[in-house]
Amino acid sequence: MPLLNIAIIGYGKMGREIEKTALEKGHAVKAIIDPRIKKEGIQFNEINKESLAGVDVCIDFTQPAAATENIKKAAGLKKSIVVGTTGWHNRLDEARKAVKKNNTALLYSPNFSIGVNIFFKIVEDAAKQINNFDSYDSFIVEFHHSQKLDSPSGTARKLGEIIINNTNRKTTAMYDRLERKIKPEELHVASVRAGTISGTHTVGFDSSADTIELKHTAKSRVGFAQGAVAAAEWISGKKGIFTLDDMVKNITGGN
Ligand SMILES: NC(=O)c1ccc[n+]([C@@H]2O[C@H](COP(=O)([O-])OP(=O)(O)OC[C@H]3O[C@@H](n4cnc5c(N)ncnc54)[C@H](OP(=O)(O)O)[C@@H]3O)[C@@H](O)[C@H]2O)c1
Repeated sequence: MPLLNIAIIGYGKMGREIEKTALEKGHAVKAIIDPRIKKEGIQFNEINKESLAGVDVCIDFTQPAAATENIKKAAGLKKSIVVGTTGWHNRLDEARKAVKKNNTALLYSPNFSIGVNIFFKIVEDAAKQINNFDSYDSFIVEFHHSQKLDSPSGTARKLGEIIINNTNRKTTAMYDRLERKIKPEELHVASVRAGTISGTHTVGFDSSADTIELKHTAKSRVGFAQGAVAAAEWISGKKGIFTLDDMVKNITGGN
């Protein structure tokens, strides 16, 4: 495993967890970039030549409105970046262009927890089974703490894609309030925000006879931080655009 000089972009709840994990694994945290928080010696307000000097890989956990510009700035300075921030994927094309143009690397995922990535595979298998039985309808409900800026969660969107791609009966995810009956081909995805609830995602399959529920609950942020630091190690020296799926497949050989 290469020991890296890491820049942490966004020193909030996740940025702090990533700092701990990176140091535990022997990496150096060369820069912390956050407009407000002070940390002597390695604190910077913005991404520029000075703040990214000597950095091997950046890790961004900021906010939806900031992530795309951060990717473009890092790419412009020829730095690769791991992005955990959610809610910016509508600007993915812009980010891709900048990364390709500068021949750097981007690895992004709405969820860096290995458990959630196992959950994605379980949901995919379940959706394929359910596809054989017309009597089952499907739904998604996700819960998060009240400070989360985006809704639905990136993880819920990804779960929605998995169900739609593997169930012929579902074609569209519906995230908003409905003022009418839901159509059979629509997949209802509901979001709840309250207190300090840890990220919780439930995928349900409902028939007139029973309900099957698959649920993932994050117990802490450690799993996300470990996944993000592992992703920084994995993209170091690579060029291109990757998701966590690519990394997991590469490590497990697709099994
Ligand atoms: N992919 C995953 O596995 C995963 C897991 C957990 C969370 N997330 C996502 O990661 C993001 C951060 O989560 P969090 O819980 O750490 O949030 P947080 O505690 O609010 O931290 C975000 C930090 O980024 C700072 N920031 C905002 N814009 C910035 C910019 N342009 N440059 C540098 N720093 C900037 C914020 O400063 P201000 O307070 O001044 O705005 C804040 O300190 C969210 O999008 C969340 O959904 C992803």
